[in-house]
Amino acid sequence: MAVQHSLFRVLLTLCYGLAVIQGGIVRINDEEKPALTCGYAGCPKTQPDKLNVHLVPHSHDDVGWLKTIDQYFYGSRQEIQIANVQSIIDTVIQSLRKDPQRRFIYVETAYLWKWWNLQDAEVQREVRKFINEGRLEIIGGAWSMNDEATTHYQSIIDQSTWGFRRLNDTFGECARPKIGWQIDSFGHSREQASIFAQFGFDAIFFARLDWEDKAHRLNEKTAEFVWKSSPNLGEKVNLFSVALYNHYSAPSGFCFDILCRNRTLDDQSENGSKYTERKIKDFYSYILRQASHYQTNNIILTMGDDFHYQQAENYFSNMDKLIRYTNELYGKEVNVFYSTPSCYAKSLNEANKTWTTKSDDFFPYSHNERSFWTGYYTSRPTLKYFERLGNNFLQVAKQLKVLSNQTDDEDLQFFREVMGVMQHHDAITGTEKQHVADDYAKFLHEAITRGENITSKSISQLSTQEHPGKQEAFKSCLLLNISACEPTENSTIFILTLYNPQSQPTSTYVRLPVVGKGYSVKDHLGIDVPNQLLPIPGSVSKIPGRNSSASRELVFRAADIPPLGYQSYHISEKVGENVTDEVTPAAEVSSIGRNHNISVHDNGNVIIEWKNQDLRIIQSMNYYDGGKVFFSSGAYLFRPQNSTLHSFSYNGSFRFYKGALVEELHLTINDYVSEVVRVYDQEDKVEVEWMVGPIPVNDDVAKEVVVKYSSNLESKGCFYTDSNGREMLKRVRNSRPTWNISMLLEPVAANYYPVTTKMSLVDEGRKLRLSVLNDRAQGGSSINDGELEVMLHRRLLRDDRLGVGEVLNEEAFGAGLVARGVHHLVGSNLTDLDGAAAKEKSAAKGLAMRPWVFITPVNVTFAEWKNNHRMQFKGLNKNLPRNVHVLTLEPWKEGQVLLRLEHLFEIAEAKDLSKAVEVNLLDLFANLVIKEVRETTLGANQWIEDMHRLKWVIHTNEVHEELEKQNGTLPVVNGTMVVLLRPMEIRTFIISIK
Ligand SMILES: *[C@@H]1O[C@H](CO)[C@@H](O)[C@H](O)[C@H]1NC(C)=O
Ligand SMILES: *[C@@H]1O[C@H](CO)[C@@H](O)[C@H](O)[C@H]1NC(C)=O
Ligand SMILES: [Zn+2]
Repeated sequence: MAVQHSLFRVLLTLCYGLAVIQGGIVRINDEEKPALTCGYAGCPKTQPDKLNVHLVPHSHDDVGWLKTIDQYFYGSRQEIQIANVQSIIDTVIQSLRKDPQRRFIYVETAYLWKWWNLQDAEVQREVRKFINEGRLEIIGGAWSMNDEATTHYQSIIDQSTWGFRRLNDTFGECARPKIGWQIDSFGHSREQASIFAQFGFDAIFFARLDWEDKAHRLNEKTAEFVWKSSPNLGEKVNLFSVALYNHYSAPSGFCFDILCRNRTLDDQSENGSKYTERKIKDFYSYILRQASHYQTNNIILTMGDDFHYQQAENYFSNMDKLIRYTNELYGKEVNVFYSTPSCYAKSLNEANKTWTTKSDDFFPYSHNERSFWTGYYTSRPTLKYFERLGNNFLQVAKQLKVLSNQTDDEDLQFFREVMGVMQHHDAITGTEKQHVADDYAKFLHEAITRGENITSKSISQLSTQEHPGKQEAFKSCLLLNISACEPTENSTIFILTLYNPQSQPTSTYVRLPVVGKGYSVKDHLGIDVPNQLLPIPGSVSKIPGRNSSASRELVFRAADIPPLGYQSYHISEKVGENVTDEVTPAAEVSSIGRNHNISVHDNGNVIIEWKNQDLRIIQSMNYYDGGKVFFSSGAYLFRPQNSTLHSFSYNGSFRFYKGALVEELHLTINDYVSEVVRVYDQEDKVEVEWMVGPIPVNDDVAKEVVVKYSSNLESKGCFYTDSNGREMLKRVRNSRPTWNISMLLEPVAANYYPVTTKMSLVDEGRKLRLSVLNDRAQGGSSINDGELEVMLHRRLLRDDRLGVGEVLNEEAFGAGLVARGVHHLVGSNLTDLDGAAAKEKSAAKGLAMRPWVFITPVNVTFAEWKNNHRMQFKGLNKNLPRNVHVLTLEPWKEGQVLLRLEHLFEIAEAKDLSKAVEVNLLDLFANLVIKEVRETTLGANQWIEDMHRLKWVIHTNEVHEELEKQNGTLPVVNGTMVVLLRPMEIRTFIISIK
């Protein structure tokens, strides 16, 4: 323990020296004396022999929920909710001005930035000063306080990076957040904790953990602990964690916000001062009670709540008195003062305690035995998909901008910001009011549309570099999810340009909605590519609002699209003579599949057998009744009535289609549930394209539609789900790793977990694994051995009374909303670990980072196009190792590019693929000439060598790893610039380019 501390101090001095040499210290606004009392140095002094009570004034400002982001900011629609963010920040600044002891924290950079831009220079100077003095502390600092169950790690990192970037550019070093403040997210992921540690954060504070877990932790004084956030990254991502005592609210009776109407502390009149004295006594007993559940002589009181401080002085003046009188009356025992979460964390760190640890996560969250917040894992499935599509396209836009040597612009900034908002814990979660969900969708649509300016211009530039003057439009098909695409439907000749945002050469089957009966597809070399036409299922043609003439999809295999590159195809409709209609169902066939045997049972269930493995699935469509009276499901909660799964009665039909490229089963279960099960010629996975809706509720039954895969695997009560699309976590049915849970009342809902990208079942005996990969976040479970189930869509009849005040009953075009998506089923033999891991990883990337379809309607032959256009572009000069992925490539500041490289595999996930790997950056990118490369923390807001996290001592038998000395600027050695990546590692670089 002692050894570790002194080692740390030595390192600190060493690195400090380095930082000075490299000029890493930020200059602040000239007018201010750089009285940098931000950070730990400026924390209020605690008193070792007293109970130190840290009052932390804060406001929880949702970036949209009951009102839209703009309605919250400007304070309109007060009849919905009295909430005005502009007043909050305005009046807090006025109150901070009055007394240097007062402190406040601010969290959501989306709002702070909006507010900042409306201030005059005087106010801006003052705010900078408050930040530099540590009186206004930035906590969290991401664009929004993201959800942790349904978000993808790439988007969490992106939206944090963008918030940090604005903060650093605007305020400098003192605005660099050191604390994760996830007070309202509905449960907490381990990946989020790992990401925070990699940002250089010293702690996470949160409020929502399972009620039983919380009770245990308070009893055992383990509400503060060290979270081991990644078995792959080890000790360096341990994160100190604080589960708050009283949600994130002020102690009852001590909320002095105008929204609370608690009586103020009146010290003038005689009655008033008696009342005040009584209140102080109550306060004193409250803090003793809280302290009895925590380890040190420090406690934190969150003095605030949702949209509090709209008239900040009311709150502050009463807190002034609370502090003064408590210290006057009980000053021998307690010391009450304004503080911040970072100062609180610092005090705990100085307490020299040995802390307990935790290695799992905080899902699912429940606030009592009937209330599991597992419905929102699936709520608003189309918004969840739209968000994922948005990230796919954002990465395409960022990469193309860099590869075509363009600088950052407002379209890209807007796109980043909208995606930041989408991560908010009432956005992607589906727990907002309908008009707010519509507002998010509108913004995302605008962001994607503006993103198209970027991509079209970039590809146009890359493809016509040698032919100036030619500027074609490269249009996106944003309605491919309903098999519609205006430019492919309405042109007889068009160019398809597929851009591959993945880091490996990628082959994919393209599906384009068309009207013709036969097509000729030529690749970039002019070689004819075999293709096949498939009918668009009738259920899809009937989707309300679908306005498309396409009746079939043209399918072909686009082979080896270069990583971070594109490949173009010339596609033309065959006309006249002997064009035969290829779209006929295969008669006389009772099953399809080459490596599989796929057939339909009389009851409408699909039977999928693997020919080369002892794996067999019965796939069925089912629903839970979400209830219509008390204890019903809602936007947040999943409360299946009697925990009973109902199967649909099958009154549909099915057809098989067979061809050289793909074989398909088109199956209709009933009026609103249908699916296509397909296997492509050169792919090992089975694709299930599900479609649900409009879900009828006129029978007065709320329905939560679930697909179930019942396999022959012996899973022995276990299954695996991903954490934000990255590491996998083991789940054990009816059990929690750190306490005994009784699940009698909600045996199904309590076993649901977020499935952000993947869910698996393993048969250890037979060494088989079945994985389901999805295209958007969903909830899922394994209720019986051998089974995986995933909730696809939900339409409900009751609000769950957690604030949203609306029934989750999505409609579009006058009917229930239709959702359509895919699952990829991958069966693997675990005797070939590398093969199994690689298959799943490429399936996951294929869903999250799809090659993007750009269409250019033309009137030219292949040769004519080829003459004037480059039909293949490679963004990488050489292939990266198979376990490496370019997580981020985006324009940064003038002359700079932001790059993140990640190792895709976990330590035990594979063999060769799980080894550490080296990448030479120097000539990696085709269009970039690298001048200098400096490594930063994961959030790109601090040079890596400047990162010094607080050290915490834990109960452990493990040998401590030696702290590695980080050197931020990558050296060039023998003409190479090598980056080492260990399993699951992400490294972030700012590259200066020539
Ligand atoms: C304080 O205000 C809250 C919110 O309005 C209310 O629930 C609580 O009962 C009040 N407590 C006292 C002691 O006035
Ligand atoms: C933070 O901002 C300062 C001032 O603009 C800048 O000098 C510094 O390079 C930034 N830090 C990082 C890591 O980008
Ligand atoms: Zn919230």
